[in-house]
Amino acid sequence: MPSDSRFVPLVLKTDTEPNMNRNSLFSACKFLPLVVVFFLTTLASQAQEISKEPAAISAGKALFNANCKTCHAVNKKVVGPALAGVTDRAPSIQWIKDFVHNSAKVIAGGDAYAVKLYADNNKTQMTAFTSLKDEEIMNVLAYIVDEANKETIAPTTAAVPGATAGGGGDSVPSSYLNLILIGMLLILILLIVILAFMVSSMKRFLENKQLTEEDREVVFSPINVGTITRSNGFIFLVTFIVAALGFKAVINGLYGIGVQQGYAPKQPIAFSHKIHAGQYEIDCKYCHTGVMKGKSATIPTVNICMNCHNQIRTGTTTGDGEIAKIVAAWDNKKPIEWVRIHNLPDLAYFNHAQHVNVGGQECQTCHGPIETMDVVRQHSLLTMGWCIDCHRKTDVNSKGSAYYDKLVEFHAKEKGKGPMKVEDIGGLECSKCHY
Ligand code: HEC
Ligand code: HEC
Ligand code: HEC
Ligand code: HEC
Ligand code: HEC
Ligand code: HEC
Repeated sequence: MPSDSRFVPLVLKTDTEPNMNRNSLFSACKFLPLVVVFFLTTLASQAQEISKEPAAISAGKALFNANCKTCHAVNKKVVGPALAGVTDRAPSIQWIKDFVHNSAKVIAGGDAYAVKLYADNNKTQMTAFTSLKDEEIMNVLAYIVDEANKETIAPTTAAVPGATAGGGGDSVPSSYLNLILIGMLLILILLIVILAFMVSSMKRFLENKQLTEEDREVVFSPINVGTITRSNGFIFLVTFIVAALGFKAVINGLYGIGVQQGYAPKQPIAFSHKIHAGQYEIDCKYCHTGVMKGKSATIPTVNICMNCHNQIRTGTTTGDGEIAKIVAAWDNKKPIEWVRIHNLPDLAYFNHAQHVNVGGQECQTCHGPIETMDVVRQHSLLTMGWCIDCHRKTDVNSKGSAYYDKLVEFHAKEKGKGPMKVEDIGGLECSKCHY
């Protein structure tokens, strides 16, 4: 049996390089500082990392509305610049914190970016927010980043709704996973320290023994980058970290799939249901003409807008800018490119006429209080579970249909159940909803 076999797991085959670290007590700890530095930079970068937590975003939104809204919007210039993308263009996150705390001081300090910004904004002085805490500014930034992402979601006809999921809850509470990762790192560091001590005390013990030349070579071989990167332990560590990060990414991805509730993209024209369907009580069907007769509710064409906006050219809240866009689209015979909000995947079949006309369902049951929304947002989940749930609970609308009257009568007699539900007429059959 080869004499070095016992030590293989701890100290790999000798290198031919000169043995620089022979006998050094902490030779195995040489790379410990590296691990610690890695650990600390992870922590530090977290402190400067912009949160995606819904809690941080909503706290940031409140702060933004209370302090910044008078002068800033996320996506357009007001008094100050549009803040979308500021985390990328400003010199650093720290710079933003300093600037928000006291912009005059940063400008007076001669910071090139600040001086130029100040000049570009007609030397308008931004209020100093000395009392805002760093976390609060980070929350405001979280809100800004979130809001900017929402608005840049491109018009989509994609069959995979998860890819553009907006609104809340598209990420696992990542703080838990980060905590777990940090905990594991700490345990690993501890293990390394213990191993290092074991190695050095074993070496000391062996030093006093009579060893053959071959054994000595194995025992006192240097530990260097080469031996470490080739060791099983190192390979395991790297694989483990990569796997953990991959796992986290997959979970985050899964949470976004199919869930689009709350999606409320910005539209090319600031059309408001609150004004039209709410304040002026225009019937939904006046614009969504397909709703009673077809699968699709349809979005109104420019012609329908022009029925009224031929005359009405000024809005109370938006002035004449937004309505001018309608007139321009009409003059150029170009359709307005509304961003689609509700979108089932191609594999599912949904028919408006069946629900609104035959089933007697109100728009609001599925779409929520649209007449109060300035910007339409997706009210319901639109998942299969959501469809099925309603089919289980909802009575079939049998008013004025002799065919249904008979069915209902039959149903009550045969099954001795209460009112006939959608599920009783086949509303849970796969083929009804899937092609
Ligand atoms: C009184 C108006 C006013 C208020 C209130 C205000 N800002 Fe500003 N902000 C400005 C102006 C003007 C600038 C452009 C720089 C300058 O002129 O000093 C600016 C610049 C900035 C910049 C740098 C933008 C860039 O393009 O690099 C950031 C970041 C910023 N503001 C954040 C905030 C935050 C966060 C708040 C709320 C806590 C806030 N501001 C409140 C007026 C304001
Ligand atoms: C004056 C015309 C008009 C009236 C009245 C109107 N809408 Fe709309 N609706 C639009 C336009 C234009 C859009 C597309 C722009 C948008 O999403 O805001 C739209 C979008 C929608 C959407 C989202 C479509 C999508 O992309 O998924 C729903 C849902 C909707 N309307 C429901 C209603 C309901 C319910 C009512 C009645 C309470 C109503 N609408 C009344 C013009 C109208
Ligand atoms: C049945 C009449 C009618 C139709 C159809 C109609 N509108 Fe309007 N619209 C109005 C009225 C009334 C106002 C309110 C004007 C005001 O603010 O006093 C208005 C206001 C607006 C405003 C300005 C809102 C504001 O407060 O500044 C926009 C933008 C607008 N409409 C877009 C559209 C678009 C886009 C369509 C077609 C999808 C459309 N409208 C169809 C009647 C109509
Ligand atoms: C039973 C639920 C339900 C009811 C009731 C309902 N809708 Fe919808 N609506 C949906 C679903 C689901 C979609 C997505 C359809 C798709 O992607 O194929 C949708 C999509 C839409 C759209 C987007 C364009 C389209 O047709 O795909 C508009 C506009 C709309 N609905 C308007 C209305 C109006 C107006 C009413 C009332 C008259 C109404 N809806 C009633 C579930 C409903
Ligand atoms: C608010 C309740 C409600 C929701 C949500 C709902 N439905 Fe329905 N659905 C009904 C009612 C009520 C009927 C029965 C209409 C009738 O009387 O024929 C029906 C009937 C149907 C039918 C015809 C069943 C048959 O046997 O004739 C299909 C297909 C259907 N729904 C698909 C869907 C899909 C797909 C979704 C989800 C995207 C959905 N429904 C969501 C209430 C709902
Ligand atoms: C009432 C309508 C309805 C019925 C009945 C129904 N489905 Fe669905 N199903 C849907 C809708 C809507 C979706 C899309 C959901 C989404 O986008 O999250 C869907 C999605 C699916 C998917 C894809 C899931 C995914 O993650 O993309 C499968 C698979 C599926 N259904 C299988 C079935 C089977 C099997 C049955 C019969 C036991 C059935 N469905 C009955 C409405 C229905």
